[in-house]
Amino acid sequence: MNLGASVRVNKCGLCVLLVLMVVVVALYKYGNSTELKREVVSLRSLLAASIDAAEHGGKVVSAIREAATLHEQSKGKTKEGANDPVTDGDIKSHITMFFSLQKSFPGIKIISEEHSLSDVDVSSVSPAALLHPEVTAAVAEDQMVPAEDIRVWIDPLDATQEYTENLRDYVTTMVCVAVKGHPTIGVIHKPFSGLTAWAWVGKAVSPALRQPGNQGAFKDDVAHIIVSRSHAGDVKAVATAAFGAKTEVIPAGGAGYKTLAVVEGKADAYVHSTAIKKWDLCAGNAILFALHGNMTTLAGTRLDYGKEEYYKNEEGVLATIKNHAFYLQRLQGLGGKKQKAA
Ligand SMILES: *[C@@H]1O[C@H](CO)[C@@H](O)[C@H](O)[C@H]1NC(C)=O
Repeated sequence: MNLGASVRVNKCGLCVLLVLMVVVVALYKYGNSTELKREVVSLRSLLAASIDAAEHGGKVVSAIREAATLHEQSKGKTKEGANDPVTDGDIKSHITMFFSLQKSFPGIKIISEEHSLSDVDVSSVSPAALLHPEVTAAVAEDQMVPAEDIRVWIDPLDATQEYTENLRDYVTTMVCVAVKGHPTIGVIHKPFSGLTAWAWVGKAVSPALRQPGNQGAFKDDVAHIIVSRSHAGDVKAVATAAFGAKTEVIPAGGAGYKTLAVVEGKADAYVHSTAIKKWDLCAGNAILFALHGNMTTLAGTRLDYGKEEYYKNEEGVLATIKNHAFYLQRLQGLGGKKQKAA
């Protein structure tokens, strides 16, 4: 009998058992941590939070306007030579909107027009609320989406130039949720009237959007084209050539304002021919999609909101609530491009 050998076998067995246990514990931990990374997000909660963030940003924007403490500075000039101002309204609304959303959804990538200094104190910013009465009433069925598929675009103060001129109607705050690059949820808030328009494509639109406007293209044979105040002159020539001498060109500030004007039937189309940033467009794009309108570049392509590094659109914009192909064709006809019958 060899006692020593059997003891040795048992010792080895114990070692094997220990190694196995370590492996099992490691696998368990590793499995858990990858699960944490694959966070899924309730789009219904994110919609409610987006409305809350836009409305809180709006409160900051209007309080600073009322107190006349804008502390306007210039970010430089746009390509077209217009002044590009930034104010305390932009920066403080950014801090409120960005950090309230980030505190509620730490796993989501948020892209904002503005930035704050890294040492800014955000302890007083409350997390965005995950419930909103309009959303609870309008959205019956939630949708869960992996956080990595989501990009949130925020514009803490659209129409800053008009804000400095005290042209309050044009000012909006905006939040947009893109899922895999598609504009899916849009919120446009008007701080000075209190209106909040929101939509979730294929799911629901806000009470404020449920009354359709007159939406009549070519009322009295006239196309009503809304364009930027800063280069209305240039677009007037283009619009007249495309839609006839009687074309009415409506100059206005803010991409959010202009898109809502199309939604409300105050204009047939919003045309923009120079570079524009995607945080100016995404929320309006989602709202138009939800109402079966359309937004494309002037080349007729959809805008992709999936990559933060491609935040600039240099292809122009056409936004309509109906007859998109018609407007696109007329505008493209100017470029001398050969048109195919639709
Ligand atoms: C939007 O316009 C583009 C370009 O004309 C077209 O390809 C697309 O089908 C339109 N989408 C909707 C929803 O009408």
